[in-house]
Amino acid sequence: MTPPTHYAVEYAINPWMDTSTPVDVRVAHAQWENLRQTYLALGHRVDLVEPVPGLPDMVYAANGGFVAHDIALVARFRFPERAGESRAYADWMSSMGYQPISTRHINEGQGDLLMVGEMVLAGYGFRTDVRAHPEISAALRMPVVSLELIDPRFYHLDTAVAVLDDRTIAYYPPAFTEAAQQQLHALFPDAIVVGSADAYVLGLNVVSDGLHVVLPSAATGFAAQLRELGFEPVGVDLSELLKGGGSVKCCTLEVFT
Ligand code: ARG
Repeated sequence: MTPPTHYAVEYAINPWMDTSTPVDVRVAHAQWENLRQTYLALGHRVDLVEPVPGLPDMVYAANGGFVAHDIALVARFRFPERAGESRAYADWMSSMGYQPISTRHINEGQGDLLMVGEMVLAGYGFRTDVRAHPEISAALRMPVVSLELIDPRFYHLDTAVAVLDDRTIAYYPPAFTEAAQQQLHALFPDAIVVGSADAYVLGLNVVSDGLHVVLPSAATGFAAQLRELGFEPVGVDLSELLKGGGSVKCCTLEVFT
């Protein structure tokens, strides 16, 4: 996780961002700290990446890359405003003993790359370039399923899909092309389908350990669906971070060992 020390909405690169809406960095920090404490209370380890001045979106650590087993893939960002983050995340990976790999084409890390079991669901359409998908598959030595996103509100895959355990996902069908919806249905016939009210508070932007699902507290309908299936939803309020277009998962780069 990267502390929101320099967090701000100074530019608008997704429909959630409105530069005329003030952001309270103090509240953002308290909410982010509450997310960190939630992970610690659940028994997770949390490492911190050093925030860099002038990179207000660095708090969305999920976009910094993808780390699984012994492989660390560093992001290549779509927008110049975020380009400097690649260096910062690559430095962090190196400090952790990884040799960061980059892709030729744009990839926005775990924003668009979600591991389910031993496969990777990969989004494209707004940020990650579909041509990066085969590069990613080769680097990670994992099959990659390419899914096309069509609604700009759900510009990263992690706003439209939640991975709950090694074979269970939840998703919001209208975020995807017809073809991608069919792919998801074929792969995950028992997936949870969430409604618009939950999707529009970024309810799918979650981190799950297979039992506890840390999710935006406003996603009450999704929380009820999760409980029904035996998961334990843990709601957190990240309203200040939502102003930048992110929530729980966006603030978290998961390290799969
Ligand atoms: N403002 C950031 C951007 O538009 C938000 C990124 C949210 N992160 C995510 N994993 N969806 O790039």
